Amino acid sequence: MLPHKSIEARLQAAVSSVLPDANTANVLVRPCPDPKFGDYQTNALMALAKERKLNPRQLAADVLARLDVGELCEKVEIAGAGFLNFRLKSSTLERTLESAARGEHLFFERTTQPRTVVIDFSSPNVAKPMHVGHIRSTILGDSLARALRLLGHRVITDNHIGDWGTQFGMMIFAWKVEKFFENDPGLLPDPISELERVYKLVNEACKGDAKALAYLRSRFSYDVELELDKIEPEGALNWARMELVKLQSGDKENLEIWERLIAISKKQFETIYNRLGVTFDHTLGESFYNPMLKAIVQELLDKGIAKESEGAIAVFSDGSLPPKQDPFLKQEDGEWKPNPSLIQKSDGAANYATTDLATLAYRLQTWHPSEIGYVTDGRQQLHFQQIFATFRRWHPEANVKLAHVWFGSILGEDGKPFKTRSGETVRLADLLDEAEERAFQVVTDKRPDLPEPQRREIARVVGIGAIKYADLLPNRQSDYVFSWDKMLALHGNTAPYLQYSYARISSIFRKDDSDATSKTSEPASVSLGAPEEISLARHLLNFDFVLGAVVEDYRPNLLCNYLYELASHYARFYENCPVLKAEPKERASRLILSSLTAEVLRQGLEILGIQTLEQM
Ligand code: ARG
Repeated sequence: MLPHKSIEARLQAAVSSVLPDANTANVLVRPCPDPKFGDYQTNALMALAKERKLNPRQLAADVLARLDVGELCEKVEIAGAGFLNFRLKSSTLERTLESAARGEHLFFERTTQPRTVVIDFSSPNVAKPMHVGHIRSTILGDSLARALRLLGHRVITDNHIGDWGTQFGMMIFAWKVEKFFENDPGLLPDPISELERVYKLVNEACKGDAKALAYLRSRFSYDVELELDKIEPEGALNWARMELVKLQSGDKENLEIWERLIAISKKQFETIYNRLGVTFDHTLGESFYNPMLKAIVQELLDKGIAKESEGAIAVFSDGSLPPKQDPFLKQEDGEWKPNPSLIQKSDGAANYATTDLATLAYRLQTWHPSEIGYVTDGRQQLHFQQIFATFRRWHPEANVKLAHVWFGSILGEDGKPFKTRSGETVRLADLLDEAEERAFQVVTDKRPDLPEPQRREIARVVGIGAIKYADLLPNRQSDYVFSWDKMLALHGNTAPYLQYSYARISSIFRKDDSDATSKTSEPASVSLGAPEEISLARHLLNFDFVLGAVVEDYRPNLLCNYLYELASHYARFYENCPVLKAEPKERASRLILSSLTAEVLRQGLEILGIQTLEQM
């Protein structure tokens, strides 16, 4: 695709050329929020006027007098306290649509200044089933990576799996209890359920559950090496700890069990990622950074960034930030108290924070990113604030944007955290199965005439699409209520509605027998007359702006809303403007509008990781 200079970028360049020494933030041109006033707008001159102590309307008038946008705009007006409103000529819209129809662009511009961006997302913990809590990270992170890539940035996706942690003590203990060396759980149809079962069992035994303890004793009686009488709550817990210590100190048998646990888990993750269509460039889990941790703790000590405290090592406030912004302070009873970030426990073991510092340093050295986004839930906000602040003290020279892209929780219809009916966390695999099954019912109701394999395929695309869209649509920082009925509805702001809109446009092309759409013939010209045609065309031109906003603030929800509005504009157009029954010239022009709408819908949904179908 050829580079396309968006209208907004051209208007911006025109304003900049009149104000060559203004900061670019002061000449930003945006789509006009209310089309009554124009197609594009800049309100930024007001800030510039303030900065230069000028009268804002006078500045706007001066800019306007020297502005050369006659080729694009029908008129430019000063409004309010110093806005400039631009009204495009219809020929500008028409020529832009024609160049898009020739395949020169799809209403967006690839960046001329590609950035290297690392997206850390999904990152489930090994040896535990992937549950609904990991879905937002996976879906959000994937969509952000797709958007950045489309705009021409170099994106590195890294799945920072939790493959090293206290859970392995219990897992290895459980592995030995169940003699998994003889009965490889990896060979079972659902090894994760099996691991989950034994994990729960050991966990309950560690908490003192009598039944779980009795079970462990019965298993241990077969094994002379293990001392039966030690299996009591304390004993179980100690045993798990001992297995962990052995693992950490490189015990061969435990390392082998650990590796097999990881292999089983990774296989499960892969199945889910395949179903979701998500891929990663790297899966560098926490364990990858183990060899680097000791040196980092030492360096932070040497630099005076970390301090010893009651046998542990931690980072404290250095007083450089106002208390309200200082992540190493917390308010208690009206007083500011230390809120340190632990980087080494008193037993010498490293923490989640230590690994994240090592990870950050590794990524900078290896990939030289200008930006790293961490997609996790909002409960990790303090963790990342502390990591970022520690890192700034450790590497003040580093020029990298660090962003915690956090999100809220998924709630059940009762407003409490989303759980199964029996109160357990929902497994991701079950959730995806249910989505497909429910979508199958909907499709079968609507299209009983289609053969079952086709209905199954539609149900897969619709079911997975519905889950993703329901997750991406709310502002990521708000909690949302998980509702099957809402997400699978064919009307309203849902994936099925957008997919259906796409399929409906595709059906026009199946009916069309003219050559206006065939790739070989010269594309027809576009002429916009009806107000619905003009609104639709204008909205198509805003694709660029929306994509920019998505990556700027890590918010795919803006794209969801844009696509929903696009489908709504198209529906109004389709209701008011006959396409196939129009006169040949008009028909060709409207077919172009239709096919470009379909193309933007398809591309937009692809950024959200959602597939489309020609027929539904
Ligand atoms: N494994 C963590 C969890 O499940 C998320 C890791 C996020 N990434 C990071 N670099 N800390 O909560």
